[in-house]
Amino acid sequence: VSALQDTRPDDRPGIGFGLLGYGFMGKAHSNALRTIPYIFWPGVARPALVAISGRTEASVAEAATRYGFARWSTDWQDVVDDDEVDVFDCVGPDDTHAPSVMAAIRAGKHVVCEKPLAPTAEEAVELARAADAAGVKHLTCFNYRFMPAVQLAHQIIANGEIGEIHQARFRYSQEWRTDPDGALPSPVGALNIIGVHAIDQARLLVGEIENVSALITSPVTTESRMAGDQPAERIDTAAMVVGFAGGVAGTIDCSLVSPGRKNQLAWEINGSKGSVAWDLEDLNVLRIHRRGGTDTEGFTKVIVNESSHRLAAPWWPSAHILGWEHGHINMLAHFLEAVATDSPVGPYAATFHDGARASQVVAAAMRSADEGVRVDVPALEGGD
Ligand SMILES: NC(=O)c1ccc[n+]([C@@H]2O[C@H](COP(=O)([O-])OP(=O)(O)OC[C@H]3O[C@@H](n4cnc5c(N)ncnc54)[C@H](O)[C@@H]3O)[C@@H](O)[C@H]2O)c1
Repeated sequence: VSALQDTRPDDRPGIGFGLLGYGFMGKAHSNALRTIPYIFWPGVARPALVAISGRTEASVAEAATRYGFARWSTDWQDVVDDDEVDVFDCVGPDDTHAPSVMAAIRAGKHVVCEKPLAPTAEEAVELARAADAAGVKHLTCFNYRFMPAVQLAHQIIANGEIGEIHQARFRYSQEWRTDPDGALPSPVGALNIIGVHAIDQARLLVGEIENVSALITSPVTTESRMAGDQPAERIDTAAMVVGFAGGVAGTIDCSLVSPGRKNQLAWEINGSKGSVAWDLEDLNVLRIHRRGGTDTEGFTKVIVNESSHRLAAPWWPSAHILGWEHGHINMLAHFLEAVATDSPVGPYAATFHDGARASQVVAAAMRSADEGVRVDVPALEGGD
């Protein structure tokens, strides 16, 4: 007779997730939803993988099996309409965000949306207002907020450890548009593809962006239309000088044409008492300098993977480091808890207000570059 005992079922409440998209981000979000139940233990709830949609029947059916979703469809409306879906998670191309997420809000679903929240600031603001009015939880996927090193920098700055901020520089560089491969892959350009992540880090770490002066270039992308003749932004690089609330001046730049820069989201913030610096290409490390007036002072490299570091705590023992996917896992675990316990999504996670604000900064940068003037970013009302 076997001494093996039957396993107790996981009786935590299930929060149903429905996805639009099974590509790169569909895989990253599915990976997060499948990992959360055993890493965030005991946790207050577990994600239930209810439904997934995509364009191609055979591929979406295969993705449903591979990722573990109970149902699939080639029409995202079926996911929105599914009674067991509590959270609609849009991980489709940029132009699917606004229509599908708005339909989900109207159906009373909590909503997660990949960045950019919408291709235009007007649509992004409309989504933020609609989500507020419906009283649903909302999250824009600025996943880099959920790296332990970024969280620690946020804490250090908020505690006043680097003093008053004097200067702040942010950049996001990639190389993949350097040799164009025909038609543009996206209706949006560098600012909306990667610039919004740098804008969001700047807002998180330094404060609200009040005005922007920008130059935009497009040395490689010469067409303003995608395959199928869809209009597309022609933006390969953008350089912005931004004014933060409180008077700090900073710079934010982004480029899709920087050979050797595989995925470099990086920043440095200098204050009266010290500095902090981070680079996604070395994501576990926060560089910290504290002014001490000694001959040995300088930047110190801290591996932010200790159990005392909030976002590292659920993971591995000291300095058994994390990867890119952990940002998404930590982010969706936070959102799951917010839904399950009716707690706030912000201010640490990015809500639709943060998504809309990033889009407004992009819009201001585009206008500034067009008109050759500094542009104020309009105030956006609302909170979490
Ligand atoms: N946060 C990040 O780190 C990050 C990284 C890359 C991309 N993104 C964002 O994520 C989003 C998706 O990018 P991706 O790289 O995963 O794209 P992708 O091309 O790999 O996948 C897109 C998916 O959407 C599906 N899809 C397209 N149109 C659809 C429709 N009308 N109905 C249902 N499904 C549809 C496709 O079948 C595919 O599964 C984009 O908005 C992008 O900006 C975010």
